[in-house]
Parts: sequence; C-alpha cells; structure tokens
Amino acid sequence: MGDTPSFDPSSLDELVDINSIPWSPLFIFIMVVAVAISLLVAGLVAYSVRRFRARPGGGVPRQDFGNRNLEIAWTAAPAALVIFVFGWTFLTMRTTPTPGSDLPDGRRPDIVAVGQRWWWSFHYPESGVTVANEIHIPAGRRVLVQLTSDEVQHNFWIPELGQKMDMYPGKTNYLWLEAKEPGIYHGVCAEYCGTQHAWMRLIAVAQPEAEYAAWVRDQQTAPLPVAEPLPQLGRAIYIARNCGSCHAIATVSEGQAGPNLTHFGSRLTISAGVLTNTPENLAIYLRNPQAVKPGIFMPNFRLSEEEIAALVAYLESLR
Ligand code: CUA
Repeated sequence: MGDTPSFDPSSLDELVDINSIPWSPLFIFIMVVAVAISLLVAGLVAYSVRRFRARPGGGVPRQDFGNRNLEIAWTAAPAALVIFVFGWTFLTMRTTPTPGSDLPDGRRPDIVAVGQRWWWSFHYPESGVTVANEIHIPAGRRVLVQLTSDEVQHNFWIPELGQKMDMYPGKTNYLWLEAKEPGIYHGVCAEYCGTQHAWMRLIAVAQPEAEYAAWVRDQQTAPLPVAEPLPQLGRAIYIARNCGSCHAIATVSEGQAGPNLTHFGSRLTISAGVLTNTPENLAIYLRNPQAVKPGIFMPNFRLSEEEIAALVAYLESLR
C-alpha cells in the first residue's frame, strides 16, 4: 500500500443495537401474510408438478372448466385482505406525525440541517449554535428539524428514532425527531450521494432537559484559549495554513465550506463517522485526508509531522 497510512474504520457500528429499533406491527403483519401466501403458492405448484406429471399411457387428464365457488373465494379473499391492509396503512399514516399536517403557524425549526458532501451541518436558529455531524437533542421532547441540501440529494435517517426524510437542494422538508430515552443514536445518509455516501454518518445525543440546556450554553461559548505551547503553536499553524478559509472556529475563523470546528475536541467521530475522535486518528486524517476518505473536498496539505502534532493538540483542545 506504499505510504497510505493504515487506519481503523470506526468501530461505532457495534454500538448500534438492531434489536432496539421498534418494529411496526403493520410491517410484521404484511411480512407474515406475504411469507405465508408465498409458501402456499410455491407448495401448491410443487404438489401439482409431482401429482399431475405426465405418465406413460396416462392419456389426456380430466378437464375442468369454471368453478363459481372457487372463483368467488379467490377474488373475495385477496380483496378483503388488501382492503384490510389499506385501512391499517391509512390509520398508521394518520397517527405518524408528519410536519405539515400538524405544524402550528409560524413554528420555527429547532434545527436546520444541510446535507453536504459528505457530512452534515446543523444550525440551531434559537440559540445560534452551529455544529457538524453530531446533534444534541432534549430527550422526551419533539424537535422540529428542517432539512435541505447543499448540492446533491441526501436522506436524513436515524433508524432508532423512526422516519427518514429526503434532503433536496433548493427545497425544504421537515421531520419531527423525538428520543424517548436519553442515549446516543446513530444515523446515516440513506440516499446515494456519491463516493463517500456510506461514510456520511451522524450521531444524535439525547440528553435530559437540564443537561441539554448546559450543552447549548457550552456551545454558545467559544472554547477558552489554551495556555500550553503546543496547542498555541497549532492555533498559529491553523491560521498560517489558512484552514479558516473553509472551517469556522468561534473567534478565530469563519469559513463555511467545511465542518464547523469550534468544539471539535468534544465530538465522538472525525469526518462524519469515518474515525473515532482520538489524537492518533486525527493525526492519520491530517496526514492525508484523501487516503482516509477519498473524494472529499479537503486536500492533502502535506503537513509536516511537527505541524500535525501541533494541529492535533490545538483541535483536540477545542472542547
Ligand atoms: Cu449523503 Cu448519501
């Protein structure tokens, strides 16, 4: 592999507990009925093939034409089933909260989400907080998320929290998000959007109300400048290397093209879930972002090991 640095793709997948995803009773019903009908049809075909196969000297089998009772039965039974499923689907759709049907006039979104290539930017209009790839939400309270995209279509989906919703450029969709319990919920982009689609992950951290309020206050505050020389040097390199033309760090730079890094040190992952956020992984990433996540906009800046060490110390200090 030459000079391509080795890295360990994020092991966060292990944290996603498939069993905790709620199954819809309607889905289970349709699945069971569909499997039963498939088995019945396949069974009857297999039985007929064997029972009525051509035998030497068998002649032409008995011919049956029309059977009113059978025809009524196999028309009425599927019709009744389809009507039943239609009714249940209708009721399910009515009870699934979809913004638009129950959005009070003038209700503003709590979070504005924009799909990027290949990461997520999140803005909280009320508090002015901007983050990337990880959102915090209050547990037990519905949050209105406005969804749009930068240039290509994405799809916002946190399976454990229910619905998914498309993100289109130039159009806004809405989604209610509610975590009943505090915890970490993993999400993905669910619409193919280019080479790094599979590494467009997101995380929702649901917290009790007071903890969530503290998080918001934290985010509104620029991280304190660190006194140690290495992070200080990193900050100077960040400025000298013009990282701020793409990235924003409160009171330091205002770039919008890349993820906001104001509180980078407190994030769980690097680059929308590719790597867990550790100093070692950040160094691997900075050595050559294109080796870790080929095709992203961040080029290989060919930083020296000294520069990388200083930048890592600086960025990880931003909490
Ligand atoms: Cu964004 Cu797939």
